[in-house]
Amino acid sequence: MPTTLQGFALSCLLPFLAVAHLLLAMAMARTKLTVGDVLTPPDYITSPSGGFAFGFRAHDSDPSKFILATWFRFGGGNSSRPPQPQFVVWFAKESSMGATPNATARSVLSITTDGQLTLADGSNQVLWTASTSSTRRGYVLTLSDFGNARFLGGDGHTVLWESFWHPTDTLLPGQTLQGMLLSKRADAEFTTGRYSLAAQDDGNVVLCVDLFTGDTMQNAYWATGTNSPSGNTTITFDDQGGLSYTLYDGTVNTLIPPMASSAGGSSNYVLFARMDTDGIVRTYFRPRNGGETTSWTVSGTLPSDGGCKLKTPRMQGMCGPGSYCVETKERLSCLCPPGYTYIDTQHTDSGCTPAFEP
Ligand SMILES: *[C@@H]1O[C@H](CO)[C@@H](O)[C@H](O)[C@H]1NC(C)=O
Ligand SMILES: *[C@@H]1O[C@H](CO)[C@@H](O)[C@H](O)[C@H]1NC(C)=O
Ligand SMILES: *[C@@H]1O[C@H](CO)[C@@H](O)[C@H](O)[C@H]1NC(C)=O
Repeated sequence: MPTTLQGFALSCLLPFLAVAHLLLAMAMARTKLTVGDVLTPPDYITSPSGGFAFGFRAHDSDPSKFILATWFRFGGGNSSRPPQPQFVVWFAKESSMGATPNATARSVLSITTDGQLTLADGSNQVLWTASTSSTRRGYVLTLSDFGNARFLGGDGHTVLWESFWHPTDTLLPGQTLQGMLLSKRADAEFTTGRYSLAAQDDGNVVLCVDLFTGDTMQNAYWATGTNSPSGNTTITFDDQGGLSYTLYDGTVNTLIPPMASSAGGSSNYVLFARMDTDGIVRTYFRPRNGGETTSWTVSGTLPSDGGCKLKTPRMQGMCGPGSYCVETKERLSCLCPPGYTYIDTQHTDSGCTPAFEP
């Protein structure tokens, strides 16, 4: 009676699969990576309360390739599909302006025997390492409930590296900007884009386009003008959703105002500030108890006005040559005049060109 036997085998296998699934889910809910552990795509660790995950996120355009990232985790997450691009608050790059390494199914994140946090591909070639200045060996990687991935020494509290020291395009509540925020090239394209926010060494807070082509001030489309011999300006995103800068003498100035204090800030809302792909810094919030499909609301922008009128001293605007800028819902958009087409349809800020040779 082969069919009966087969039926029996199947019904026995089903509960086994369910258990295996549960074990897998439990394995994926771990909260740290210690020496000897490995993390492979699409696994991740979570913060103690489960609000953030750190690990491998598949590219939308190619699910066989993964970035190493931190993301908001809503409704328990769903490992069968990558978190929305907007949920990603940090991703590994070779350096702040460097390339974003691609992991594959055979890549491994681990703490090496000499105490380095390293992402290697299937043939042990290093794709990325957490850059520590200390000679101490790291022992454990954890993810805080603030979304900060931390690589700790053997004593369990000396921080050798943390993701908050190496921001990409996003600040989370309580985070002070170190270095600069750099936009992504497009919302689902985790590479360095064209726009930056930084507190310069001279104390000036500056928004720049195409920073790495020429003199900074020639590329600035907005600045506080707070440069002084003392320098030392810091930018902070607070737990009420406000973005501000603090001068060397302790004076605090607002860049984006906080939410009304009656709203309760980060105890009631999930918040972040981001250098968006159109060169505008926006603060976003959504109710903490909303489901996975709850949308984000913009609470403020930097600059607070100007949008399409923003220009650098050499009159470079927010859109490329041959195109014009319009303010659409929550974004600046670049459009081509009649008879012109985008030079690069994936990156509409690159400009437009005549559709036909004259
Ligand atoms: C990483 O993979 C994505 C998706 O396939 C691709 O678009 C991107 O160019 C790759 N990056 C590198 C550095 O190879
Ligand atoms: C996860 O996502 C898949 C694909 O969209 C869907 O079929 C499944 O029901 C989701 N699971 C949960 C627990 O949300
Ligand atoms: C810069 O400011 C921070 C706090 O605002 C302070 O801790 C630090 O000592 C200052 N650095 C210098 C070089 O003045």
